[in-house]
Amino acid sequence: MRPMDGLARALEALPKVDLHCHVEGTMRPTTVVELARKNGVPLPTAEPADLYTYSSLDEFLAVFWLVQSTLVDRDDWARLAYEAVTDSARHGVVHQECFFTPARHLAGGQRLAAIVAGLDEGLAAAEAETGTTCRLIADMDRAFGPEAGRQLVEELVGLRSARSPGTDRVIGVGMDSTELGVDSTTYAPAYDVARAAGLRLTGHQGENSTAQQVAACLDALGLERLDHGVPVLDSAVLTAQMVDERIPITVCPTSNVVIAHCFDRLEDHVLPRMRAAGLLATVNTDDPALSDLDLGREYAAVAEAFGWGWNQMVEVALDGIEASWLDESEKADLRARVVMAEGPRV
Ligand code: ADE
Ligand code: ZN
Repeated sequence: MRPMDGLARALEALPKVDLHCHVEGTMRPTTVVELARKNGVPLPTAEPADLYTYSSLDEFLAVFWLVQSTLVDRDDWARLAYEAVTDSARHGVVHQECFFTPARHLAGGQRLAAIVAGLDEGLAAAEAETGTTCRLIADMDRAFGPEAGRQLVEELVGLRSARSPGTDRVIGVGMDSTELGVDSTTYAPAYDVARAAGLRLTGHQGENSTAQQVAACLDALGLERLDHGVPVLDSAVLTAQMVDERIPITVCPTSNVVIAHCFDRLEDHVLPRMRAAGLLATVNTDDPALSDLDLGREYAAVAEAFGWGWNQMVEVALDGIEASWLDESEKADLRARVVMAEGPRV
């Protein structure tokens, strides 16, 4: 790892929000090994990080699913959540909105109530220790189809009505996983259920799909935030709509290079063009432990790749707060912390 320069050190300490982070993708390699051993899950290697080079999104997803398969009981979810937040807090994350994608576990017989209660227990402990806050977004897994997605949302809404422990922490729904051969607009019934229950709506689209497919999703699903959205600029109409409506995009620049291979190098990423076009394009991690990343390093990498200085990175951090689903007073508190942050020593 390279030593940090002054800007990188300041960006590490800058209060930041992460709006696109999969809790399963934060699992430490040591935790993968320990949970696999505890739960009798065979791993193809003693060193999981050996698996962490990907030639495509779908190849990545095979590894992601292996990591997910080590989560078997409520305590495993609690440990994962606790470690996710204590790890991110060490790199200046003050608030995160984390995905969890339970389709595989539910199909294997786990209970949604136990998964959410476990996550909540770990998050509450980490919040008390670090001051970093974390809300959850229940993601539908497109590998399981739209009907499984609708059932997940129905169950979540039922658990929230019954005040099942931790379900008040789940503030939104999304979808992730493969885009190949999938028409994401078929998830409309699930999003309708979520909207009627007052849940916030986001979704992954645009790692392996076109601007037209992204536009169709926004239209059919009523997404209020978009995860990835790499090809948005390819459509002037879509860009204008997203600028006008201030629909945030949770961009994950390094992930788009090392996971989905949308670009050869970070320097080629469209993030600067997105921001110059007036899009509310934020910077996030995606799957930090599976791509050897943290948000402090991602901010530093983005600054270096695009020649952005402290003031531009403060703007990125403020845009993250705007794009979050915090209420206005929580946003104001975080903004005050960002503008008070100390820049690099000159
Ligand atoms: N699940 C975890 N990371 C993902 C990504 N980058 N795209 C789609 N699904 C995911
Ligand atoms: Zn993602």
